[in-house]
Amino acid sequence: MHLFLVGAGHVGLVTAVGLAKLGHRLTVADIDAARVEGLRAGRAPIFEPGLEEAIQAAGDRLDFTTDLRPPPGASYSFVAVGTPLGPDGPLALDHVEQVVAGLLEVTGPEHVIVVRSTLPMAGPAALIALRAARRGEASVVTNPEFMREGTALRDFEKPGRIVAGWLEERDRGAAERVLGLYAGIDAPTLVADARSVALIKLASNVFLAMKIAYANELARLSDAFGATASVVSDGLGLDERIGRAFLDAGPGFGGSCLPEQAVALAAIADGAAVPAPLIKAVATANRTHQQAIVGRLASLLDPPALSGKRVALFGLAFKANTDDVRESPALAIAAALRAAGAEVVGTDPRAAGHASAADSLLQVAASPEAAAAEADAVLVVTEWPEYAKLDWSGIAAAMRGDVVYDTRGVVDAAAVTAAGLRLERLGRP
Ligand code: UDX
Repeated sequence: MHLFLVGAGHVGLVTAVGLAKLGHRLTVADIDAARVEGLRAGRAPIFEPGLEEAIQAAGDRLDFTTDLRPPPGASYSFVAVGTPLGPDGPLALDHVEQVVAGLLEVTGPEHVIVVRSTLPMAGPAALIALRAARRGEASVVTNPEFMREGTALRDFEKPGRIVAGWLEERDRGAAERVLGLYAGIDAPTLVADARSVALIKLASNVFLAMKIAYANELARLSDAFGATASVVSDGLGLDERIGRAFLDAGPGFGGSCLPEQAVALAAIADGAAVPAPLIKAVATANRTHQQAIVGRLASLLDPPALSGKRVALFGLAFKANTDDVRESPALAIAAALRAAGAEVVGTDPRAAGHASAADSLLQVAASPEAAAAEADAVLVVTEWPEYAKLDWSGIAAAMRGDVVYDTRGVVDAAAVTAAGLRLERLGRP
């Protein structure tokens, strides 16, 4: 099948190469001419493991254009443009509406517009109104994705589920046909009205954020009583009603989805006058946790205060294996450390450039050893595999102080203590 896709970002490109691998031919459009040029030359505009190779391997099955009209013969148009923070809050629909409006202009009743972008709860009603206003004939189906950065290609091929939402009764058949495009993938499927599907998408991410926030509170409780948080999570996870996934304590959840959607769903509930204290607490809990980490670090110093201290932040990406710093716990913690009077020097194997662009006050060093120079404390924030193999004697020699606080449980504890450093780990006695 020849498919059209608008939006050559993370979601769009992973979807395109995934569908191409299933045997479809994809024409991918983006308004960014430089991006399209690079893609034609086989360059991925974003870092995602395996993406560039997959773009190159797709060969003729993938082509790129700046023309936002579906090519002749393509009867499905995927929309994978962003729903960024707008003047009215997160998940602004403007880009989606613009692209869908353009597609409605040039397509007839046989065409299916597949909206893959994350929609706010008001999204389906807005799209119904848009189609009516434009007298559009194309079917409109929603098809949210549940892919993680860093493992997105694998998540496309082995998803937990494939979900399609019909906008109105007349779109039901099209929603079923959209699922058919994924033939070859073994996953449970669900077809439902687009409003329920929009809530499935948001609620999944907020639930994951809630699990992490819960694990982080349990980790601090563990610290208060000498329990081991990972063991507690293992024990919880053995109950199949709970499950072990997303119960790893850390510096808080970050990234482009979880924090934004936690805030968005709370605002959506507020806007609809639906009391939702639990949903509201998810974002607050993350901030509280990060403040607690900063407080814990301060308590380890001598004297126990951050003012005038130098802190080396190991890891700036919001998680390992990405160069993404959007809503990164590292940046929130860096800001909190500075607010408490500390000087912060960050380092990251991949995300340093993006981190300095996002935070102009952040000093960045090229290596952990360089970041640790004259530092009173090292705070490990991202679980880079590299950080399991650090040369702690070199780091200790560069440091002024002796405190190492690992919020990810990634460092080699024996090596840290052998280097004469004091190790504190979140959730571990
Ligand atoms: C998330 C969802 O997992 C994915 O389904 C959705 O499509 C997009 O949002 P992503 O943002 O790539 O994916 O990151 P994810 O791997 O889910 O991690 C989110 C954050 O939670 C990271 O900061 C991560 O470090 C943190 N995390 C995750 C924990 O602290 N503990 C865990 O147990 C899991």
